[in-house]
Amino acid sequence: MKIGIDKIGFYTPHIFVDMEKLAVARNVEPAKFTIGIGQSQMSVAPATQDSVTLAANAALEIINDEDREKIDFVIFGSESGIDHSKSGAVYVHHLLGLNPNARAVELKQACYAATAGIQMAKGHVALNPESKVLVLGTDIARYGLNTSGESTQGAGAVAMIISANPRIMELDNQNVYLTNDIMDFWRPIYSDKAFVDGKFSNEQYILFFNKVWEAYKDKSGLELKDMEAICYHLPYTKMGLKALRTVLDDAPEEVKERLLENYQISTIYNRNVGNIYTGSLYLSLLSLLENKELKDSSRIGMFSYGSGAVGEFFTGILQPNYRQHLNLEGHQQLFNSRQEVSVEEYERIFEETLPADGSDIEFDISRDPATIVLSGSLENKRQYVNKNR
Ligand code: HMG
Repeated sequence: MKIGIDKIGFYTPHIFVDMEKLAVARNVEPAKFTIGIGQSQMSVAPATQDSVTLAANAALEIINDEDREKIDFVIFGSESGIDHSKSGAVYVHHLLGLNPNARAVELKQACYAATAGIQMAKGHVALNPESKVLVLGTDIARYGLNTSGESTQGAGAVAMIISANPRIMELDNQNVYLTNDIMDFWRPIYSDKAFVDGKFSNEQYILFFNKVWEAYKDKSGLELKDMEAICYHLPYTKMGLKALRTVLDDAPEEVKERLLENYQISTIYNRNVGNIYTGSLYLSLLSLLENKELKDSSRIGMFSYGSGAVGEFFTGILQPNYRQHLNLEGHQQLFNSRQEVSVEEYERIFEETLPADGSDIEFDISRDPATIVLSGSLENKRQYVNKNR
């Protein structure tokens, strides 16, 4: 039985900051951010968007009434969780009006959790071929104003339906995974901003990629020439390129050219959104699939990395007419309708969060065009609104 990605949706908040302007404000050469880091725009989450609303808005794009009935497992991959106990999946399940006979859980392992979710979903569908699983990768990347990580922030979510007979991508079975306890990036419970050892994180990302790629080649017997493209977790778009370049030396010229060309296409969306942690690899896949017509049955390599750290390399096969099941127009509209905010405005928005002492607050939701928003907090409970209901 074929199991894989049947639908894929995406959401990012309606405001962004221009990276050249951010560079000027930080006394940095703009080319450092646009070329050295490889980012053009950075999505900014207003106080009315959190990991729950981003995920719900991404899912809203893809689910129909049949999905509402058949989804019996919601997996919420995130490192921007809003509660130490209750999972974001339960809120999303309610906001979308899904079938009550469903499981709902949250998974955490930095940027890797959505990949773990997809693999759990695959196992669930193998045992229950009629089921559909909603897998969410949703995050707000926050390092802090004026920090070295600031240029690699972002916000957004990807929602995928994993099912039998998938219409977009069948997932292969020869996955290779790797875990090693390192401190390259982490966020202690008391902090709403990440701590990072930037250079070390870059080194470990590449090391993990090299290790899982070598093991994958041994396990599968496949090589670079068998990959139409390789998509990467993209904390910033230069990162995947650095990793890809480490394995290109032995590849024939045409393979090298194809992988480099397709790599650039896989970064178009991420370049204008920033790091969305768990959703980042899948946003890169979406960017590739929507911005280039690839041959049916092409094999796509996928490198997932979550600091701390867990890495995985796996592959998928594009299904016949997969492009008919994407939403290029909708995503172009999402990007085109975004509004730029000044650096000063971004700084103000960055500091506007729910009160840390749990006191009540009500936000003005009229300024956020998203269908699902956070309207505030009442008696220590986040208040969510689905404007369509
Ligand atoms: P930095 O110190 O600001 O930048 O840190 P840099 O000095 O290393 O420069 C960056 C690049 O810009 C360099 O290129 C410079 O040469 C170039 P490279 O040598 O690396 O190819 N540069 C210029 N290029 C053109 N024109 C110029 C110019 N000036 C300099 N004028 C860093 C950068 C990414 C480390 C920092 O932003 C950071 O710490 N970010 C957060 C951590 C991160 O993203 N790590 C990536 C791997 S870990 C990961 O992916 C997991 C993660 O997503 C978290 C999770 O799993 O949950 C982060």
